[in-house]
Amino acid sequence: MSIASDFLSPPQGGFESATAADPSCAPSGHSSPLAHLRPLFIGPVKIDPPVLQAPMAGFTNFAYRQVVREFGGAGLTATEMVHARGFLGIHERSGDFPDRLWGVRDEPRPLAVQIWDNDPVALAEVGARLAHEFQVSIVDINFGCPVKQVTEKAHSGSYLLRQPERVGQIVRRVVEACKPTPVTAKIRLGCTRDSMNAIEIAKTVESAGAAALTVHGRTAQEYFRGQADWERIAEIKPHLARIPLIGNGDLESPERVVAILRSRIVDGVMIARAALAKPWIFRQCRAALRGEPIPPDPTPDEERQLLLKHFQLVLDRFGPERGVILMRKFACCYAQGKPGSRDFRANVATVATPEEFLLVVDRYFPRTS
Ligand SMILES: Cc1cc2nc3c(=O)[nH]c(=O)nc-3n(C[C@H](O)[C@H](O)[C@H](O)COP(=O)(O)O)c2cc1C
Repeated sequence: MSIASDFLSPPQGGFESATAADPSCAPSGHSSPLAHLRPLFIGPVKIDPPVLQAPMAGFTNFAYRQVVREFGGAGLTATEMVHARGFLGIHERSGDFPDRLWGVRDEPRPLAVQIWDNDPVALAEVGARLAHEFQVSIVDINFGCPVKQVTEKAHSGSYLLRQPERVGQIVRRVVEACKPTPVTAKIRLGCTRDSMNAIEIAKTVESAGAAALTVHGRTAQEYFRGQADWERIAEIKPHLARIPLIGNGDLESPERVVAILRSRIVDGVMIARAALAKPWIFRQCRAALRGEPIPPDPTPDEERQLLLKHFQLVLDRFGPERGVILMRKFACCYAQGKPGSRDFRANVATVATPEEFLLVVDRYFPRTS
């Protein structure tokens, strides 16, 4: 199973059922702007609004980021994770850069690139190149990935949460190498419910010089099961003296984002899966945070247009063969939860050419009328 399909397993009961873990964070019904909302700074980088697009392997490529940017409202966009030694190997062999960095040099800032590995030297070397050659706004280190290829095979991602000293070493070296570009870390609550050490890791990451910490409110063992534990995320905040805390997990509506930020348990929030089905959610969050009317979801016809535009961006970048395969999963995300989406998904899952893709969209993508 690929990293992407592993990650896409919905929480128990499906995406729709993942709601507030703690009643205090339930949407309050307020639509007034958050007067007290302080701007979020990651080092010198202003993240406005404090709602970040999460890194997602297999999804958050240049085409997707372009779609998110065009809707607007994401304070920060992020790439898929890039393997540090993979990066160095590709560059040594061919002088080239990993595919996942396509577009990164030229696209608008702020933009974060996420890297993963367990070797502080390789991570520092790649971080330095991203910071100085690619001039990215932020270098983010992955300490949260629960996928076996990354944890068991490469002793990286969430595997490192059981080695706080190594986490500290890695962050320190990467921070030193990237200066003055800020370095951030993304973690889970721990490896298992019995070994939740996010507070210890948070303190380690801060004292090693990181500029922000993002926490996905599940353990690695939980993958995407159950609900994100926002109470546990909230417990971390008092232990951070200097750097902002960004909370992540199951945020699916602008109301929920407002409620979380209003509660001040975190300084910023990050959205992943909900923004695959609704790349316009950031625009809706921005409006809600300003106390403005929330722009409605696009109609199915508008969504079809968006899907076709996204398809063209993917084709331009990846060519027909890879482009169609890649677009099958995005198309399923767009159709999620709509009447008739089952037929659409079944048909789009097997398309092999751009012509077939267009035909299936035309025939099966849900229509307004
Ligand atoms: C398809 C997919 C790919 C992901 N890839 C990454 C990744 O490359 N790096 C990372 O830190 N997290 C990755 N994640 C985790 C998300 O960034 C996020 O932490 C998680 O999905 C919880 O947020 P959500 O409830 O808003 O989806 C991925 C998640 C999904 C669904």
